[in-house]
Parts: sequence; structure tokens; C-alpha cells
Amino acid sequence: MRHLITLDDLSNFEIEQIFRLAAGMQSQLETWAGICRSKLLATLFYEPSTRTRLSFESAMERLNGGTLGFADPSSTSVTKGETLADTARMVTNYADIIVVRHSWAGSARVMATYANIPVINGGDGSHTHPTQALTDLYTIIRRKSQVEGLTVGICGDLRYGRAAHSFALAVARFGGKLVHIAPNGLQMPPWILTRLAQIHGQKPIEVENVTEVIKTLDVIYVNRLQEERLPPTVDAKTVRGSYLLNAAVMKNAKPDAMIMHPLPRVNELAYELDDDPRAAYFEQSANAVPVRMALISSLMGLEQLILTQPPKRDIGETSHQCENSNCVTNHETYVAPERETFNGDTEVHACAYCGNLVIPN
Ligand code: NCD
Repeated sequence: MRHLITLDDLSNFEIEQIFRLAAGMQSQLETWAGICRSKLLATLFYEPSTRTRLSFESAMERLNGGTLGFADPSSTSVTKGETLADTARMVTNYADIIVVRHSWAGSARVMATYANIPVINGGDGSHTHPTQALTDLYTIIRRKSQVEGLTVGICGDLRYGRAAHSFALAVARFGGKLVHIAPNGLQMPPWILTRLAQIHGQKPIEVENVTEVIKTLDVIYVNRLQEERLPPTVDAKTVRGSYLLNAAVMKNAKPDAMIMHPLPRVNELAYELDDDPRAAYFEQSANAVPVRMALISSLMGLEQLILTQPPKRDIGETSHQCENSNCVTNHETYVAPERETFNGDTEVHACAYCGNLVIPN
């Protein structure tokens, strides 16, 4: 059984295969339209969503599959205290594949442990959003043919933005050069920086203002302030509106740069850029459908694109309780902590659920 919990679950080769299928589905939908007939996708959305849920539903229905699920957990047995494990076991009997979005980091991984069907992570807290990163990479490759060699700036709330986390790791994996642009206090978290350094040998340039680096960027990926995730120690008022990409800033950008945003935008990306040919954010949201069509059919084994064995990772049990209060292991008490080890210059351990670094005692 293959799942997509983080992008580490797919090899670069598999991602490229999925993109090839997505491109085929995008240009000639009729060829694949019946592939999911009589299959059901469950969308379990414990957190708000517009694009992710609708594009997954659109993807499944365009392949003639059906969908069921919820977008408002207050109408479900969650309110009675039902665990993720029990929900996963139960949905296994009702559907053929699950997409889950939840506010706890690592929640999709718990569901994958208990479901007997493929589970896709539709965003887990401020941890990761792997299907958004697939859509983002696909959009870059369609415009620029490859990611390798591009200078990619990620701008905004890099600390709590899960789309930014998955995107950074994905860009590094495919050979892009990262520049991190974030207001003070909202910089990329250590767990991402450590992975970039240890696994990809990359130490991104870090600046506070996009104007400092705009000339150098091939891609400018803007991200909104994740107000709903800010801890009480961060004063939203001081960071709100502290970064903005607009026409004046874009005047100094490359003529063939790409402006990206996972959306929704709030006040960090000016509407005046919508007609700029460099704007790619609506293209990104449109590409979400073919990419998710290709992913659903691949994970269900309907297209033989995904290999039977996932990429090898070093994951094992640990007695160390994760220190991230938002980690699923600190909420669902039946989940035993696990850690992942990766080697670069030194050996590093991280929580296998939320990625948080385990500081050696
Ligand atoms: C993102 C998310 O939910 O993480 N949206 C999306 O899925 N396109 C980005 C965000 O909410 O800022």
C-alpha cells in the first residue's frame, strides 16, 4: 500500500511519472475519463479548504469516480471524541482512497497506519502539504521545462506555512537554488533548514525583504501570513502587511520570472499583478486538478506508475516524546513516538510524524 504523507514517500522518478500522466490527462482527458469508475474518494477535512478539497473532488469526478466526506468536522463523531485511528479504520470500509486535512502535524501519517487504503495528506497543521508542492513543481516545469538551475525565492510566513515547507524541500530535490525571504520571527524553521543542509547540501540565502533579491529570482513564491497558527508570542499586528509583492516590486524582476502563490491570498499579493504575464497562481490552481487526477490513479494502482516499494527511509521506535505541542503524538495518546534518522555531515534525528528535530541529550 502506498500513501502520500510527505514528498519523501515518492522518488523523483515516480514524481516525474505522475507529471507525465498529469500532462496526458490535461491534454486528452477522454483517454482516462473512465479509469476511476466505481471507485470512491473520501475527503476528510477537519480544517477549512477551498482549492484542495474542490480540486480533489473535481479530479475524482472527472475520472468518473465518486466522492464522499466532510468539510466541517463539527457535524461528525469527532465531537464525540472519535480518534483518527478509528475514523481511518471505518472509512476504509466506505471508500477506496482518503484525502485528509487536519490541524495536527503528523495526523495523515496516523491515518495511513490504520487505513487499509491509500491515504493522501491534504495538509497537516504547519507541517507539510505535499500535493500542493506537486502542483507547484508541475506548474514550474510546464513554464520553464525544469526546476534544476532556477533561483527560487520563497517569500512570506515561512515558519508556519506548510505549503512553503513542502515546496522548499521539493525545489531542493529537483536542483533549484533557494532564497528565503521572511519577516523577522517567521523564518524557515530549523527542521527544514537542517534537511536542506543534510540531505541536499543547500544553505539558502535568507533575507527580510524581497526587494533585496528580486532581480535574481526566476520564481517568486509568495505565501500568506498563517494567522490561525501564530502562537500568542507573535504579535500578528506587527507582521500583518509587512510584506507585499506588487507591480512596483515586480518592475525590477526578470521579464520571464514566475509569480506563484498557493492561495488564498490576503494582502501580500497585489491584484494589479493578475494581468502580468508572469503571474502563474491561477494556472497553479488549475493544474491542481490534472496533478491530483494522476496522483489518485497512481496511488490506487490503476496506472502502473508507482513502484511497489516506497523510497527507503531509516525510521524506528524511540522513547523520546516529541516536544512539538502540535504533533499528533501529543494528542492521540495511542500513537507510539517514532524517529527518523538521516545522515549528512552528522547524524540527525527527527520526529517521524511532525519532522521536529530531536535534540540529543
Ligand atoms: C494552503 C494551505 O491550506 O496550506 N492553501 C492551499 O491548499 N492551496 C496555503 C494557505 O492556506 O496559506
